[in-house]
Formats: sequence, structure tokens, C-alpha cells
Amino acid sequence: MGANGHYRIAVIPGDGTGPEAVREALKALGAVAARENLKLEEVHYDLGGDRYLRTNEVLPPGVVDELRQFDAILLGAIGHPEVKPGILEKGLLLELRFQLDQYINLRPVILYPGVDTPLKDKKPEDIDFVVVRENTEGLYSGSGGFLRKGTPHEVAVQESVNTRMGVERCIRFAFDCCRRRDKRKKLTLCGKTNVLTYAFDLWERTFYEVAKDYPDIETDYAHVDATCMWMVKNPEWFDVIVTDNMFGDIITDLGAMIQGGMGIAAGGNLNPAGVSMFEPIGGSAPKYTGMNVINPLAAIAAMQMMLEHLGENAAGARVEKAIRKVVVEDIKSLSAGKMGYSTSEVGDLVANHIAGQ
Ligand code: IPM
Ligand code: MN
Repeated sequence: MGANGHYRIAVIPGDGTGPEAVREALKALGAVAARENLKLEEVHYDLGGDRYLRTNEVLPPGVVDELRQFDAILLGAIGHPEVKPGILEKGLLLELRFQLDQYINLRPVILYPGVDTPLKDKKPEDIDFVVVRENTEGLYSGSGGFLRKGTPHEVAVQESVNTRMGVERCIRFAFDCCRRRDKRKKLTLCGKTNVLTYAFDLWERTFYEVAKDYPDIETDYAHVDATCMWMVKNPEWFDVIVTDNMFGDIITDLGAMIQGGMGIAAGGNLNPAGVSMFEPIGGSAPKYTGMNVINPLAAIAAMQMMLEHLGENAAGARVEKAIRKVVVEDIKSLSAGKMGYSTSEVGDLVANHIAGQ
């Protein structure tokens, strides 16, 4: 795949502000492709709430197999105000993550210079870590059910499924990631061993067994509640955090806030042996749809992660440099409507900075 700098990218603009954000990410991608001599073929997929309301299809047969043929997927956002919660999230986003076996959700938390954090006195050097979230198991597995539904004696069970294979591949990825980063060389397991005495017993045993293969990496453990506390009080203690699907979902929203908000937070759903999917972490922001006010930097940062994942590190570095320049020199705030520029103007700024590098 990706021979001679030639890449096939599937683009799923999705719902709400997703298409506006993705448009700017593709603009920036075009600019960096020109600088780095990359040849890109982009194929757009009309999936999401509008398609569902029009045709009743969430993920038509054959689409997943088509998506497998791409080098990467760029996703805008999933979630539509007129569609009952759960249909698109489970039927599209989670279904893609599961069927494509994207077992890692990689979410960097980086405070760029010039960006406001709600954490008093914390500086860019204090907020620079990565969350490795398991992305195919745990409470997201869909295992469970109702008993006596609709009666006063109703029972609802939602099970956390943790397999040795699934936990181990996630923990190994996190150790490798920590080694590759080559920063503090510290991996924190975030769990809840004091209450989830089956699930996190498996996680903890696996963590310390795998750790033997990584003597250069310091191991650390924090309960998820304490992790939330330290992320606010001492974020500088973290280098790489590895955790299960549900805890990873929750702590990465907190992570997005301390790095300056959803306007800049990006993530990658990775299958190291298959096709990976990159997305801004924020949702579809329906109230801002079509207004040209949302911040496209998160989608642009997701595109940067995609380039790095494809091994195009020089191209990724150009994008990062341009993002840094925009947040330091150009935009007033990362929040929608307060940037001092429109969505498309921010995309233009990034593209121009790349062209002028
Ligand atoms: C995320 C989102 C999804 C999740 C939702 C939309 C299903 O919150 O990517 O973090 O819970 O994983
Ligand atoms: Mn989430």
C-alpha cells in the first residue's frame, strides 16, 4: 500500500459540521501533497444521518469491504439531531471500528503554545501526553440484554468484555508507542482494580507481564478517578496512558478540554495491520452546521495523524508546523465563532503556511 507516495483515501464527511471540517483538512492535505510530491486519490462516501433519513441505510452491504481497500479513512463526524441516539453511533462509527478491527484509539493531548487551557499556571511543557484507548472491547462490545423489559422487575445488564488477546495487543501497542515517543518513557495503566476485580485484574496482570519486555519503560498505575484528578492537577506526570474503551472515552474528553477544547482535539482509530480511520474528537455540533464558524484544526490535526500513520513523517511535520503557526500567530481563540476567522479562512491559513514553508 501507498507505493511511491501514492495513497487512496476514503473520506466520510458525515454529519453536522463534519463536512465543513473535512473540506479544510483536505485543503491542507492538498497543500502538503504538493510540497511532498504525494499523489492522493480521494473517494467520498455519503454515510451518516442524512443518508439514513433519505434511504434508511446506515452502512450498506459491501461498503466495509470497499473501505478495507483504502490506505486510510478520514472521518468528519457522526451524529444527527433527527436520528435517535445510538443508531448512527453504534451502526456506523462503532461498526466501522469493530469490523475494521481498529483496536487502538490513539488520542494525543497536546497544549500548543498560544492556546488557552483552563488549567491555571500549566504550560505547553506540562500538557503533552497520549492516551491509548482500547477500541474494540469492554463495555462497548454490545454484550448484555434485558430481562422482564418494561415491567417493574426489569433487569438491564451491560457487560464489559475483556479478552487476553485484546488487552495484550493494546498494552503492547502502548509500550511501543511510549518507546517511540522517547519522552518521559513512562506508561500509566488507568483502571479500577479496587472495584472491577475481574476486568482490571486481567489488565493489571497483562500489563506487568508485557512490561518485562520493555525494561526501558517505567510502569505506573492509577485508578480512573485518580487519573481525572491528576490530569487536572499534575498533567505533567503523564507520558502515555493506556486504558479500556469506556474509561478512555471519558478521560479523552477531559484531555480535549485541558488542551484547549474540541476545536483542536484529534484521534486515530488504528488497525496497525489494516486500514485506520482518523477523526476530530468533537461531535457533529449541529447548532453550528453550515455557518462556517467551527474550528477545522481538529480535523486538520487528524489528517496530520493520518500522514504520520502512513509513514509520511515529513508531510506530517509540515502540517503540525502550520497548525502551530496558526494558533500562535493567527487565530484569537480555538472556539467556534471566536477564532477571528471563518472555518474556511483557517483552512486557507494552514494551506498557505504549508505552501510558504
Ligand atoms: C468518541 C465518541 C464515541 C464513543 C460515540 C459517538 C459512540 O464519544 O469517539 O469518543 O463513545 O466512542
Ligand atoms: Mn467520546
